[in-house]
Parts: sequence; structure tokens; C-alpha cells
Amino acid sequence: MKIVSRAVLFLLLSAPLSAAMEPISMGIAVGVATALTGLLSTFPTLYCKFQECCEAQWVELNFAGLKVDLENKLFGQHIAKQVVLKAVKGFLTNPNPKKPLTLSLHGWTGTGKNLISKIIAENIYRNGLESNYVHQFVATLHFPHPEYLSHYKELLQKWIRGNVTLCARSMFIFDEMDKMQPGLIDAIKPYLDYYDNINGVVYRKAMFLFLSNAGGEGITEITLDFWHKGSKRQDLQLKDLESKVSIGVFNNKKSGFWHTSLIDKNLIDYFVPFLPLEYKHVKMCVREELKARGYEEDEHIVTEIADEMTYFPENEKIYSDKGCKTVATKVDFYL
Ligand SMILES: *[C@@H]1O[C@H](CO)[C@@H](O)[C@H](O)[C@H]1NC(C)=O
Repeated sequence: MKIVSRAVLFLLLSAPLSAAMEPISMGIAVGVATALTGLLSTFPTLYCKFQECCEAQWVELNFAGLKVDLENKLFGQHIAKQVVLKAVKGFLTNPNPKKPLTLSLHGWTGTGKNLISKIIAENIYRNGLESNYVHQFVATLHFPHPEYLSHYKELLQKWIRGNVTLCARSMFIFDEMDKMQPGLIDAIKPYLDYYDNINGVVYRKAMFLFLSNAGGEGITEITLDFWHKGSKRQDLQLKDLESKVSIGVFNNKKSGFWHTSLIDKNLIDYFVPFLPLEYKHVKMCVREELKARGYEEDEHIVTEIADEMTYFPENEKIYSDKGCKTVATKVDFYL
């Protein structure tokens, strides 16, 4: 902006001067000034070629990529996959959403909540999680001290306001939501609501992801029941889990209290449940990890690592205690 106006200024200043000149040199002067203005006005485009901008070439949904990544990198989560594809597509293809997109991801540790956040970020922002428009907050890391609550509240509001002002299509990921102080959740509530704008800032195009272990036990229980009945895991549906997850989340004051106010006001658009992972899924994670590091598939290592994990329930040993969480470190050890 500044640069363009400087060029215009140059044009204005040179005009009286060129009036005194011969027509030809005046023509040249105007020509040069016009060319200069033209060149400089393309500067923002040029800038965005090399530097991240809040423009389509840096921030745009790659739906095909999202689908492929979810298929190839996330294992055992058919419900989460469906919900995320539907939610993200609907939201990002809508030029004028009524409210920000809010996803609440629930499940046992290591089942893919962080992974899916990464996959979403990578298929919207060219710089993925490293993008200037993607912000991650971990409750115990960023907001550890209860006594600083009012300071954190102010900070968080300032950050959200500042970053959404910079780029409407910003993404905020809140990890360890179950360890977050309820007061802090209240601080972000206004930004999740159906407001056209708040003090001139439009929050409706932003995305909020809330990750928590809350509800994980309920999800595991239902999945295990399903297994005991001899039903296929793939036949488990969102509605089978939804009610139980919400009950689990709301009834547990310690881990789920925060959620109540968001749900009460219908500020959460989608529940995304993550099922406990079986032995075969752990093997898939190991294979993917080996592939990602450029190693040949080695079934011996795959089995050995999967065997090293612990499984529950005690007698049946169906689900991995830590999902795929420690797979990467175990692969480190083997290579
Ligand atoms: C954006 O958020 C980050 C935290 O992720 C914060 O450090 C930064 O100051 C914020 N930017 C603005 C302009 O508020």
C-alpha cells in the first residue's frame, strides 16, 4: 500500500515538470511512471510468492489430499474420518459461514487426535502446523498456573483477536482440554458463537479444535461391547457413541466440566470420537512409521514392536494401552 502511494506521489510531482517538457519526453516520463506504478503494485503478489500470506496459494483446502492422508495415515478411526471430511469440506467451501467451525476430539491417548489435527492443518495450510495461521495451545504448557487465570484469559483473547485480524482463516488447536481451567474456556466462548463480527473482527471463518481424553473410557466401553457381541468395528456409528460420550464428559466434573457450557450453548459443531486401537492397527502404525522414514517394510520389526506394546482388558488383550503413541520412539530404537 505504502509503496504504491509513493509511486503515485512520484507521478504527481513529475506532472508539472513534464508539462514544461516537450511532448515526447513528457510521454516517456508518464510511461516510466506508469510502468513503475504497475511494477510496484504487483509487489504484494510477488511478496506472497515467497512469503506466507493469508491468500489462496497458502491457505486453501486440498480436499483430495485430506482424503488420501486420512486413508493412508490414520488407522482404525472410520468415524473420525467421516466426520472430519464432512465438517471440513462443508465449512471451507462455504465463503460465508455463520459461525466458526468447532470440533471436539475425544478418545484414549495415542488414538490419533493430534495426528488428525496435523493432517487437517497440512491440507489447508501449505506450511501445515508451522503456518503462521495455525496456533496450538497445550493446557499444561501454556496455561499451567491456576493463579494466573485472569492474565491467561486476557492473553488468550488478545492472541485470538490479533491472529484472526491477521487472517480470518486461522486455526486454533487446544490440546489437553480436560486439563484446562473452566474460566479459560469462558474467555474464548464469545469467539465461537454466531456473531457477524465482534468490534469489527470477523471470527466466523476460523477453526477451533478441542482435544481431550475426556469420554475416552465411554468410547472404549462401547467399542468393547460391540466386539463382545461379535459385531464388526466398521459398523459402529457416531450415534452409538455420541450420547455416551457426552454423558461421560459432562458427568465427570474433574475432566469434563469445561465442556458443559460450550455444549449448552451449542457452540460445538461436531463430536469426533476416537476408538481404542487394536493390535492390527498398531502394526499399521509401525509400517507407516517405517515407510515415512524411508525404510523397507520389515514384518519382523513390525511384529516385534507391536508385541512390545501392552494391551487391555487384562484377560482379552484387545486394545493397545497407549494406542500408537510410543510407536515412533520404539522404531527409533530398532533402527
Ligand atoms: C498469535 O498467536 C500467537 C500464539 O500462538 C501469539 O504469540 C501472537 O502474539 C499472536 N499474534 C497476534 C498478532 O496477536
